[in-house]
Amino acid sequence: MSELSYDPAGVFAASGPLQRQQLEQLAPRLEQARKEVVELDLAAEEGQQTLDAHFLDMPQSILEGNQELGYDGVLASIQQTASRLKDQVNSVVLVGVGGSSLGLRAIMEACCGPYFNERGDSPRFYFAGESVDNDATRSLLDLLEARAEPFGIIVVSKSGATLEPAVAMRQLLGLLERIAAPGWPPINELVIPVTTAGSRLDKIADQLECRQRFFLPDRVGGRFSLLSPGGLLPAAVLGVDIVALLEGAVAMNERLVASAVGDNPALDYAGVGFLAETEAQLTVRVLASWDSALAASGNWYDQLLAESLGKDQRGATPIATLNTRDLHSRGQQHQQGRRDKLITNLVVSEPLTEPIPVGPAGCNHDQLDELAERTLPELLKAAREGTDEALLADGYPTTTLQLPAREVHWMGQFYQMMMIATVVEGKLLGVNPYGQPGVEAYKRNMARRLGLA
Ligand code: PA5
Repeated sequence: MSELSYDPAGVFAASGPLQRQQLEQLAPRLEQARKEVVELDLAAEEGQQTLDAHFLDMPQSILEGNQELGYDGVLASIQQTASRLKDQVNSVVLVGVGGSSLGLRAIMEACCGPYFNERGDSPRFYFAGESVDNDATRSLLDLLEARAEPFGIIVVSKSGATLEPAVAMRQLLGLLERIAAPGWPPINELVIPVTTAGSRLDKIADQLECRQRFFLPDRVGGRFSLLSPGGLLPAAVLGVDIVALLEGAVAMNERLVASAVGDNPALDYAGVGFLAETEAQLTVRVLASWDSALAASGNWYDQLLAESLGKDQRGATPIATLNTRDLHSRGQQHQQGRRDKLITNLVVSEPLTEPIPVGPAGCNHDQLDELAERTLPELLKAAREGTDEALLADGYPTTTLQLPAREVHWMGQFYQMMMIATVVEGKLLGVNPYGQPGVEAYKRNMARRLGLA
């Protein structure tokens, strides 16, 4: 298999909750939604509606260095800045929350493999500003201080005013200023803000005279921004091939436009999710990852779906699981609990490394000698097929989203597909997928309680 594929056949099985015909009947609405996303949203006048569909053409625009949209030379600038920072520091802190950090966590885990921070071939990466947790903050500040060496701060905040990252930024900057020693790179080279022009963070960048800063496009919201400079700059510091990532997203755009319903992963996924929620009362959307490195991508999708469609008392509730781990926790409920779940297996066809056999042992007390020649991918496949079989036997079939490999290009395709599918599903539901008014309410309340409002 050499393409990303989405196979919903399970839900159309005889015992399944939907019929294939329903997806076929939905095709005109899906095509209309595609048209709106591809053409109308982008054509909407600035300020006319809160539409942020610019995430769609952003990868292409960045690759082409689109001057009009402000991407002139941004790719080269990201690569140069990343390479400079890699030469200057051994540690980088990514400051951001929600859409400004989950995307990078997803890319880091999926594309850099586990134990990244232990490898020593790129700066170690830390996250801050995702909460205002006292002990976590203390641990990070102590760790960085004990190292007594310069560290980079990439601070990503579209509004430039979200309290959690703003506080973390203040504290990390304070530490950097306090421990800076002769011979260290200047602070204005170590702090790289990614924000909106004119924001509070942009003004801090002015004051610090930051040598480099990047801007988030006006019409790309936080959770749609992982392929913007907000995700690309830290990804490039991590050593990820960001051109391949962007090219993957462009390939998914091309497929969105060229393929018919039934062979269009983004449209099909959106259509099946919509039908499951509205016609079969499957209001919980489970994305079950079968690759440990995709757990953070599951969390990224969790936010994407929840914050985009969880409005007006609508929108499926996302749950990201990692198998086989979560078969030993959520598996029981998914098998026999409330019948309200659409389960999608997120599967990678081939591992990136040579399959490891179970191997021989000096004794057979574990009774695994029979499996000695079998490999871990074979065991994982048996677990997945066994789980699907068990769910099907209980009248609970699954769907499958399959990547040929966990390579950067396919991850680019996957991220773009999920963003497109979420927006298309929003169109079908009549929910504006952009903005997060509920979250804004908590931000306002928190500020008022602190006497900031
Ligand atoms: O997806 C979103 O837009 C949100 O999750 C934001 O990313 C989050 O609230 C952080 O906002 P900001 O980037 O403005 O600091």
